[in-house]
Amino acid sequence: MFESYWRKMGDKCTVVIAGYDSLSYFADTKNLCWFLEPKLEGAIKGLHRAVGNAAADDHHVVVGTGSSQLILAALYALSPQDEPEPISVVSAVPYYSSYPEMTDFLRSGLYKWAGDAQNLDTDGPYIELVTSPNNPDGVTREAIVVNRGQGKLVHDLAYYWPHYTPISHPADYDVMLFTASKCTGHAGSRIGWALVRDKDVARKMTKFIELNTIGVSKESQLRAAKVLGAVSDSCQRSGSLEFDNFFEYSKNLLAERWDKLRDVVKRSGIFSLPEYPPQHCLFTGELTVAHPAFAWMKCSESIEDCVKFLREHKILTRSGKRFGTEQKYVRLSMVSRDEEFNLLLQRLLAIQGRD
Ligand SMILES: Cc1ncc(COP(=O)(O)O)c(C=O)c1O
Repeated sequence: MFESYWRKMGDKCTVVIAGYDSLSYFADTKNLCWFLEPKLEGAIKGLHRAVGNAAADDHHVVVGTGSSQLILAALYALSPQDEPEPISVVSAVPYYSSYPEMTDFLRSGLYKWAGDAQNLDTDGPYIELVTSPNNPDGVTREAIVVNRGQGKLVHDLAYYWPHYTPISHPADYDVMLFTASKCTGHAGSRIGWALVRDKDVARKMTKFIELNTIGVSKESQLRAAKVLGAVSDSCQRSGSLEFDNFFEYSKNLLAERWDKLRDVVKRSGIFSLPEYPPQHCLFTGELTVAHPAFAWMKCSESIEDCVKFLREHKILTRSGKRFGTEQKYVRLSMVSRDEEFNLLLQRLLAIQGRD
């Protein structure tokens, strides 16, 4: 979906890397995160300042190969190292479908997936993954099991950007995760970053990445620095024809897509979508509603397996079951290319014609 914006930007984000550039493992040996390119750190902090979505300046920045690597780094860093039993990792249903898989994939002795945060059945320590706005349903969330004393929180803020949701406050949590994938669309560069308040936690996360991949690709970091810098610049040049404000441009595209989808769904009589309350956005200065990257669609009770039903109509979705809930819910992507999104609308419309 973001391709059209970056095409309009032409060569502004082209990065040239000579054969003799960036050979070392190290980027800045004085930094706690010694493989973090200073240009990327500057661009990340500059962007958070321009958008006002996170208090980055008094946090340590740890870069990762996508925020996926940082989720695991955070679990490692927050787990007690000398307990006989692994710490429970929870998230409220419906949760991002990768959390259970990535938590249990290597059967770690340090942490284990314990499911829905609402049903946490331990008085001991736990880690809660708080995704806000949430994937799959786009809802703004707070921690569920906060104040039980022994809980540690990881805030996955991949979608806390003004094209997806109103920016209500600068987030200021202990561990916050962001990613270029969702912010600018550059998923293939695999750049994510963590903003970490505590030095020891940041150091342990850095250690995890050191042992896992000995740092993060410098080519990717330099490209991401350029792209994030261009987004910050675009925020200063609102209204200029040459530099569309990236977030305004993307928000308008998403709003248009959501209007079209809501229209098709309303006519169907068999599907429904969540509504999002209007909220004041500090970034745009306007009252806006969320336009999530995914649509969390509920299907009528008469359809038993919604994924199967939609697949028969050539629409690929992910089942509610994968997100810890019922299969009458499915997740649809709102951020595909134009042609794909238009086909989705056409095929949804065709179902209504027949059923
Ligand atoms: C909530 C959430 N967190 C993390 C990720 C992982 O993103 P990446 O590894 O591309 O940074 C995703 C990707 O879909 C996501 O939706």
